[in-house]
Amino acid sequence: MKKTVLIVALLVVLAFSGVVASAATRIGVAMPTQSLQRWNQDGGNMKAQLEAAGYVVDLQYANNDVALQISQLENMILNGAEILVIASIDGSALGTVLEIAKDEGIPVIAYDRLIMETDAVSYYATFDNYMVGTIQGEYLVEALNLKNRTDSVNIEIVGGSADDNNARYFYQGAYDALEPYIKSGKVVIPSGQVAFEAIATMAWSSERAQSRMDNLIAAHYSDGRKLDAVLCSNDSTALGVTNSLAGAGFEEFPAITGQDCDVANMKNILAGRQSMSIFKDTRTLAEKVVGMIQAMAEGSEPEINDTETYDNGVKVVPTYLCAPVFADADNYYELLVESGYYTEDQLGI
Ligand code: BGC
Repeated sequence: MKKTVLIVALLVVLAFSGVVASAATRIGVAMPTQSLQRWNQDGGNMKAQLEAAGYVVDLQYANNDVALQISQLENMILNGAEILVIASIDGSALGTVLEIAKDEGIPVIAYDRLIMETDAVSYYATFDNYMVGTIQGEYLVEALNLKNRTDSVNIEIVGGSADDNNARYFYQGAYDALEPYIKSGKVVIPSGQVAFEAIATMAWSSERAQSRMDNLIAAHYSDGRKLDAVLCSNDSTALGVTNSLAGAGFEEFPAITGQDCDVANMKNILAGRQSMSIFKDTRTLAEKVVGMIQAMAEGSEPEINDTETYDNGVKVVPTYLCAPVFADADNYYELLVESGYYTEDQLGI
């Protein structure tokens, strides 16, 4: 009897000291919002894959509210998270809470979005953000036949949220692909809104994108001027733009880019109201991050493939970049349905 009590006591001590706790390592996963489909998939995939690998997961969504995300992170730390995975809302707002994580020896992985101005971030895993923009820009070069045409086209630009480090990369990639044609005058931007600050959409909000597009149409296209394309950085902004165009009575839609392959946007692509999207398979990103966590738990170096690009203002964060993939009405079935990402029912086909 005495012996049993001793063994149980020893096991409890060992469990609390972490010696036999590896199977129950607690991972805090902070996601920005449930309002965008992709983050639900990211969170769901992270949780499922981490649990399958034996971890305990504390998954929180912050409703795009920076203060809420900070208090969620504080709670994760208080509740014993041993590693934090964070898709930040405002990449520059987490310095103070991450100081606490650093003091507690809790490593931080920046998920999809880089966390800025802190040395408390250990690794970054994302899709190649510049390449996302390049694919969007090159798509417009092709779709508008810019290489061969002699007349000019009119385009407008709707970018991402200024507090998200990714947004500038997306825009830079797309801009670099379009720049020769803007310079030569083949691409005209009638609103003149080209600077990142002018084209950014706070919180990637569909409503804000829609009302800005409403204004652009009223100011620059109400005289019947043709709108040939709208470069949208992602699907939530593209949704706002298509809603605006539909509201303004457009029947033939301009070429519109997107990113994420959200269900609503895939339906728009199939209905000819959006031209393309970028598929960022959240299962792959989750897999990479789970791999990083496992390596860290074993005390080995996680796999990284970029040690130069992502300077957060304090350090260059070692990064794993996944490859983004072009998606449109021609390849979506293989990419999204056959791969098991969506069912036919979800896409309404
Ligand atoms: C992500 C995009 C997403 C956007 C809005 C970005 O940081 O990389 O995939 O569309 O945030 O949530």
